[in-house]
Amino acid sequence: MEITKAAYLLSSPSFDKCPKPDRGEFAFIGRSNVGKSSLINMLCNNASLAKTSASPGKTQMINHFEIVSKSKKVKEPFKWFLVDLPGYGYAKVSQSSRRKWEQMIEGYLRKRENLVSVFVLVDARHQPQKIDLEFMQQLGDWEVPFAVIFTKADKEKPGVVKRNVEAMTELMREHWQFLPPFFVTSSTKKDGKQDVLEYLERCLTE
Ligand code: GTP
Ligand code: MG
Repeated sequence: MEITKAAYLLSSPSFDKCPKPDRGEFAFIGRSNVGKSSLINMLCNNASLAKTSASPGKTQMINHFEIVSKSKKVKEPFKWFLVDLPGYGYAKVSQSSRRKWEQMIEGYLRKRENLVSVFVLVDARHQPQKIDLEFMQQLGDWEVPFAVIFTKADKEKPGVVKRNVEAMTELMREHWQFLPPFFVTSSTKKDGKQDVLEYLERCLTE
């Protein structure tokens, strides 16, 4: 699959302000600064589509992008929504902003009827983090389907990345009988791009 058009549409403060749910939707979430916006730009071949920043907490609303893709499996190009969500786990956030974030995210994830799957982004440089596992468990409790994307793989030795991925799968096995799909990526090197696009294609066309 190839993304032929990607354009920013709208930023919404809550689920009910989101665009009409008239097509499939995929959302990207993870710790602040994990590389969500960079990954979206890499997938869409557009370095300036989603705003990236070296300081965490850049993305604050539910950001919708209109995507047009083409696939050898279907004749016509098809449309879907891609969503960049604000990250969790930024230490400097106040209690009240955190609660606001929780409400916004829970409302969106549980009520957005066209949401096909969520991508939970995890920093490939670190050993499994409690906050990521807790978030995935929450998704499981809400019955929201998700896949895991390891980011920034270029910043660590391949052996370390492999060890971190394996450690995460081991921990996940303790909670789930079936593991979600896993992808290892680098937005700077474009690693893992085809794998993620193929997964999106399968979800959208099958
Ligand atoms: P928030 O919206 O603030 O939560 O951040 P985010 O998750 O959208 O992260 P963003 O894409 O803004 O990236 C954060 C920082 O990490 C930026 O300085 C990026 O350039 C850098 N970065 C993101 N992905 C990669 C990657 O794959 N490799 C490397 N080397 N740097 C990356
Ligand atoms: Mg961002």
